[in-house]
Amino acid sequence: MGVRVSNAALVRLSYASTATFEPNEAGGIEVSVGQILAESRRNNKKRRIGGVLHYGNGYFFQCLEGEREAVEECYQRISGDSRHRDVQRLSYTEIDRRMFPDWSMKYLPVETEITRLLKRHNTAFNPYQFSDSMLAELLEACARGHDPSDSADKAGKTAASKPSLWKRLLGKG
Ligand SMILES: Cc1cc2nc3c(=O)[nH]c(=O)nc-3n(C[C@H](O)[C@H](O)[C@H](O)COP(=O)(O)O)c2cc1C
Repeated sequence: MGVRVSNAALVRLSYASTATFEPNEAGGIEVSVGQILAESRRNNKKRRIGGVLHYGNGYFFQCLEGEREAVEECYQRISGDSRHRDVQRLSYTEIDRRMFPDWSMKYLPVETEITRLLKRHNTAFNPYQFSDSMLAELLEACARGHDPSDSADKAGKTAASKPSLWKRLLGKG
């Protein structure tokens, strides 16, 4: 058995929801999503919550990991947010170890591992319709996937790279 920092049970909660804002016509970064990420990252660190957020096809998929009380409180807060609707819990389990160990919120856009997974299953992104096994695959893909807002931040520190829209959106650096 692994070493536990505290006695509180660790849980993983995944849900699907539908965005209420209009998608960005140009297909670029969604400002609303950038704002949600900035809020999430600020709050989650304090509450030792980690996870991943995916936005695609007008839907959100999010996984929250952390101590039970913190995750439940966060999910309640998120459920009442008017930037999405039809918030539907997909799974809720006690876990031994986190798939997303950083206390933050990883972000994955559509053009990644997830696209490959959808192609393999020959389906569009609709998290409400995911089977348990597809949900497990999606989480694995999310854990492996690469967060462009994270690399934008790192690249900005090391090289005179392109001005990062992510960096501006998330107010870092
Ligand atoms: C799809 C979606 C995902 C969100 N994820 C989180 C999250 O992981 N953590 C969080 O604190 N807030 C999250 N929020 C924002 C909350 O609903 C809420 O606006 C925010 O926590 C309020 O933060 P504040 O009290 O610091 O202003 C999310 C909102 C949406 C629409």
